[in-house]
Parts: sequence; C-alpha cells; structure tokens
Amino acid sequence: MGNTMTSERPRTAADSQPRTIVTAEGLTIHFPTRDSGETVKAIDGVDFAVRAGETFGVIGESGSGKTTLGRALVSLISPTNGRILHDGVDPAQLGRSAFRHHRRDYQIVFQDPNAALDPRMTILHSIMEPLEIAGEAAAVRRERAVEALARVGLAPETAKRYPHQLSGGQKQRVNIARVLTLRPKLIVCDEVVAALDVSIRGDILNLFADLQREFGLTYVFITHDISVVSHISDRIAVTYLGKFMELGPAEAVIERPLHPYTRALLSAEPVPLPSSMRTERRIMLEGEIPSPISPPSGCRFRTRCPSVQPRCAEEEPAWRELQADHWVACHFATPAGPPPPNPRRTDELAQQQAG
Ligand SMILES: Nc1ncnc2c1ncn2[C@@H]1O[C@H](COP(=O)(O)OP(=O)(O)OP(=O)(O)O)[C@@H](O)[C@H]1O
Ligand SMILES: [Mg+2]
Repeated sequence: MGNTMTSERPRTAADSQPRTIVTAEGLTIHFPTRDSGETVKAIDGVDFAVRAGETFGVIGESGSGKTTLGRALVSLISPTNGRILHDGVDPAQLGRSAFRHHRRDYQIVFQDPNAALDPRMTILHSIMEPLEIAGEAAAVRRERAVEALARVGLAPETAKRYPHQLSGGQKQRVNIARVLTLRPKLIVCDEVVAALDVSIRGDILNLFADLQREFGLTYVFITHDISVVSHISDRIAVTYLGKFMELGPAEAVIERPLHPYTRALLSAEPVPLPSSMRTERRIMLEGEIPSPISPPSGCRFRTRCPSVQPRCAEEEPAWRELQADHWVACHFATPAGPPPPNPRRTDELAQQQAG
C-alpha cells in the first residue's frame, strides 16, 4: 500500500489479452431456507474473470457472500443460475471422472486451520491425503509431501507430529502444503489469516506471496480485513449483499474508490490508511446490513448510503467501467469518485442516531 506504485514495465501483447483462470458469468447462488421456504440470495449475479498469476482480492462485510463465492469458484457448490468457467471449461458439463480429475486444479484453504486436518492423522499423512485421493502412486505422494513440508517452512520432524501438537500458524502451513502438492491452477484463500495471532499473520502472508512467485499461482484472496487485502492483491472486488459494488486495480480501489460503499468501508477501517484517505472526513457505515432474503430494491446499498437519491430505490445501477479496468455499480459515481453525501440524507441519519 502506498503512493509510489507506478508501473513502468513495458507492455506486451499478453498484458492486453491476459489469460483467465476462472470466469464467472451471471453467477447466482441461492439457498432455500429450511423452514420458511424463502430464498437466501447469497450471490445474486456477478460477472468477473480472474487472470492467470494474479491475486484477486474480495472484501465485504460478514454475510456479503464471500465464502459462497469462493466455494463456487472451486466447484464445491453449483451455481443456481449463470456459470463458472475454468480455463474455458464449464465443470458442470463434465462427467464424473473427468470432473474429479479437473477439480485438482482448483483448491481452497479455509479460515479454520483444523477444518481440513484429521486429528488422528500424522502431518505427513495429512499432506499426502489429497494426492492419495487423486490416485498418485505412493512414492510420488511421499516425495511431494516431504518437499512441500520444507517449502512451507516446517521442520522435517513435523512430519511425524499430529495436528494438536502444532500452533495455528503451523497448521495453516500444513494446509498450504496440502494444496501445493496438487500443483493447482487456482487457490481460493478464505480468511486464511483471520484465526491466527496478529504477530504471525505477516509471515503466513509472505509465504503465500513467495509461493505465488515460485509456482506462478493464481489466488482469490477473501478477507474482511482491508489491510490484508490491500497488501497482497493486484485487483480488489468489493461485495455487498451478494453483488459486486466495485472492482478495480488494488491501488485505485484503496486510494481512489468510486463507490460510496467502498469509501465507507475504508473509513471504518482502523488500520493506517494512505495519506489521501486520512485527510478525508470519516464516513462510518450506518445501520445493519439488510437481509439477503429480501435485499432492498434498486441499489441494495441505498438503505445505508450517505449519497442516496430517489432513483436508487427505483433502478438497479448498471455495472460500468468508469475508469480503465475499474468497474462500479452506482448511478452517480463519476471518474472522479463517489457522489458527494446527500445533505438531506445526512440529516436523516443524524436524527436516527439522536433518536
Ligand atoms: N449452505 C447454506 N444454506 C443457507 N444459507 C447459507 C448457506 N451458506 C451461506 N448461507 C447464507 O448466505 C449468505 C452469505 O454467506 P457467506 O458465508 O457466503 O458470507 P461471507 O461473506 O463469507 O460472511 P463472513 O464474512 O461472515 O464469513 C449469508 O446470509 C449466509 O447465512
Ligand atoms: Mg465467509
């Protein structure tokens, strides 16, 4: 994060036509609720493409659909509508055995370091397990697992230990080793440092960055922590109630956001911000997130938006490329930034707070 990120690298043909690893087209994921027969609109129509070798950050408040999106990207859940394309292939169209083989390339690491580890398995066995499921020969499994253990910075004797004998950070290294052995094309990282002590988060993030350089990995990095995502991402998508509000180069989204929601998220963030943000008046997020069962009409952020206008309730904003590679869903955003706060709205919000 900083103001000095100018890229003077010569542009090549590959820059203008980057290969995409995963594409979401009109991606929609709805869950039926158990008792009421209603529908949770966890993801409600998003379009984007993750480019080869990039880190695609996803931020948004709790319940905005980040985990659902991540699970869909690695085919752990199927779209209700729209589709996912992996390197041009729709995994939903593959037969069972082709699908199983295909899935190796699309992996996910979860927030809970224990989620994927069997407490009765040694660490070495845990690291070998995905290769075993993939049908690799025993000798290959062992060789790759030992190599991966070293590569994620764990001592050789860790191989014989059990999960309960490791710290959270060490277990997360094991989880990284587990997916690394498969040589995946994409790794979705869902809040991978959120459960870890603050003092070791940097080490784990650096490990992800090193592995990306070494193996040319592509990441989708999901987090509600803007300091994490701004550090590691090439581009950032901002989610709200199952929709993208904004998507663009990380530096632009953090330093020159276009959507009032992004501006509000950045103001609510307690970490040091770039100088350009620090001088701005702080706009805190007001009120509760509405239910994804019945999101607001028009723009779903309008009930909390300081810049709201009557049109926002009537018409859903188009997904527009306002700046090069920088997309936003807001009727009133301009290339210069989000619309100014609506004075009438500010009065209303102040009254609500006072009352
Ligand atoms: N299997 C499911 N069945 C029903 N509803 C679900 C299911 N999974 C997620 N949801 C709902 O979908 C919405 C989005 O959930 P999701 O876990 O994707 O959000 P999130 O952005 O990852 O939140 P957090 O930051 O808390 O992890 C929530 O309202 C959640 O309750
Ligand atoms: Mg989540």
